[in-house]
Amino acid sequence: MNSNNQPIGIFDSGIGGTSIWSAIHQLLPNEKTIYLADSKNAPYGQKSKEEIIALSMKNTEFLLEMNCKLIVVACNTATTNAIQELRLKYDVPFIGIEPAIKPAVTNSKTQIIGILATQGTLNSELFHTAVAKYQDTKIIEQVGHGLVQLIENGEINSPEMTQLLQSYLTPMIEANMDYLVLGCSHFPYLIPQIKKILPDHIQIIDSGQAVAKQTQKILAERIGFSSAEKTEPIFYTNINSEVLKEILENKYTAIEKDF
Ligand code: SIN
Repeated sequence: MNSNNQPIGIFDSGIGGTSIWSAIHQLLPNEKTIYLADSKNAPYGQKSKEEIIALSMKNTEFLLEMNCKLIVVACNTATTNAIQELRLKYDVPFIGIEPAIKPAVTNSKTQIIGILATQGTLNSELFHTAVAKYQDTKIIEQVGHGLVQLIENGEINSPEMTQLLQSYLTPMIEANMDYLVLGCSHFPYLIPQIKKILPDHIQIIDSGQAVAKQTQKILAERIGFSSAEKTEPIFYTNINSEVLKEILENKYTAIEKDF
């Protein structure tokens, strides 16, 4: 097979990375995509770096067996903890997702921004290095304990979700942030709820578009675009596929497979 026509592989600790898949699919509709939801092991955010690396390697090997030409790590926790090790071990381009701190800092008027992410992302060396560049901005870090699990359980609109979001966002609002960076690929699914809590002047930033553009750039520079006929995206999950199907609005098939 012409290598340009091989699929793009995308993995996440669960269903949240479909927010990244969606941005890629919109920008590159002719590319074949294979999405892997490791929901059985979600959330990654509370796991050790070693565990996150091992799971990221397992996911990568699954996608390489599917002949993927490029792998998108659609999980902030896996990117910040494992992408360096993945790049060293496998001979395929990797694209990661990092909290979009730069656009928030550049545009903030108050120079106070908030970041909602997992413990694993906020504790990572990659994140500390990124934040250290912005000494003149106050960056409020908030761990979103429990949010990923509620999303994985299909409880996006539950009262418990509203309560948790209120408890995490209120101190950041009171501290006068004007940008909220979503540092977890699951969180774009919470934007409607978050908007109900935030005053209108606070902007929300996620990284989906940036990852899609970077994918386009790497394909253009190093691999090439698919010239094959369009095919349906393929979604795999290692747990009950109903929540995945729901988040995809029942437009696509989700295959349950033990991996
Ligand atoms: C998690 O698995 O804890 C969240 C995934 C992410 O950080 O994007």
